[in-house]
Amino acid sequence: MNGQDSSHRHGWLVGVIGMVAGLAILFHMPSIKGVAGVAALVVAVHVVGALVFFGSLRNLVARPLDRLCARLKPEGRAAERSGLDFGWARGWMNGLWIAALAAGLMAVVVQMTAPGWWPVSFLFLLVAVNLLAGNALVRSIKRLDHVVLPMVSLLADRQDTVLDAGCGAGRTTVALAKANQHVRIVALDRFDAAYIKDGGRALLVRNLQTVGISGRVRVEKGDITELPFPDGAFDCIVSAHAVDHLGSSKERGLLELRRVLKSGGRFLLIVWVPGWAMFALANVLSFFLTSKESWRRMVRRSGFSIVDEGAHNGAWFMLLE
Ligand SMILES: C[S@@+](CC[C@H](N)C(=O)[O-])C[C@H]1O[C@@H](n2cnc3c(N)ncnc32)[C@H](O)[C@@H]1O
Repeated sequence: MNGQDSSHRHGWLVGVIGMVAGLAILFHMPSIKGVAGVAALVVAVHVVGALVFFGSLRNLVARPLDRLCARLKPEGRAAERSGLDFGWARGWMNGLWIAALAAGLMAVVVQMTAPGWWPVSFLFLLVAVNLLAGNALVRSIKRLDHVVLPMVSLLADRQDTVLDAGCGAGRTTVALAKANQHVRIVALDRFDAAYIKDGGRALLVRNLQTVGISGRVRVEKGDITELPFPDGAFDCIVSAHAVDHLGSSKERGLLELRRVLKSGGRFLLIVWVPGWAMFALANVLSFFLTSKESWRRMVRRSGFSIVDEGAHNGAWFMLLE
């Protein structure tokens, strides 16, 4: 998985396969009845939802929408307020409700033109509800300008050097620097994520300037699974929604992070785990996320002990030592 952020890149493919499977179930079972019918519908709803989210939403809705927003108004409203732009927020904020609206309209059209096809309109309706729930969640997280991390003040002390592993366009870097006025930060990323504008590097540099922390942050291009730092180089580490992008290399990434953390140093790890929040966002694909228990086992195997853990904005965090 090194060099490939395939959880995102292949999402659309999973969606398309799911869609075809879902439609095949629907159309090859003309007498959808009773338990079998409901089960088939539920499967179809999930796969279509996954398709809309990972396929249509990202490629057909989010990107054109981003381009349209950029043309109409170079900066989004929230970005204007905060002066920050994390590169992938507009599509996430607006794409889900636009997709929900489209699915709702499809339900109405199908129901009005072919009432006998009620399973199809029902399916569209459920997809619309699912997407609306996802939109509510994303809005509550305020991805455009949300720069708060849990327990971050427990993490670092004056003059510490902190690694932000998988910093993207700097949401976590900014949160860290705001909560700890004196720490020096190394912001590391591969800067090749397809879902962040231009991989995030230029946005990161601009965001650091906006918040006035460029002097305290060194930007490094590198891979979490092969960190370009000596052993024990950092007093603390933060990594939000990056280690969970490492596919089968998660444990390798954790071992690398353990290697570059000083003995006694702290590590704030934030990841997505299966649950209602992720179901609202990613539908059936959320079941394939690594469970909390697996994360606990992995971090312990990698040499960390768990100081605290909890939920944060629909995600899950662990403070490790
Ligand atoms: C969802 S973004 C999170 C960015 C930021 N931490 C935040 O919470 O907003 C995931 C980031 O992890 C980075 N990433 C994924 N795999 C990586 C790897 N192996 N090494 C370094 N960065 C990686 C991606 O490039 C992307 O910028």
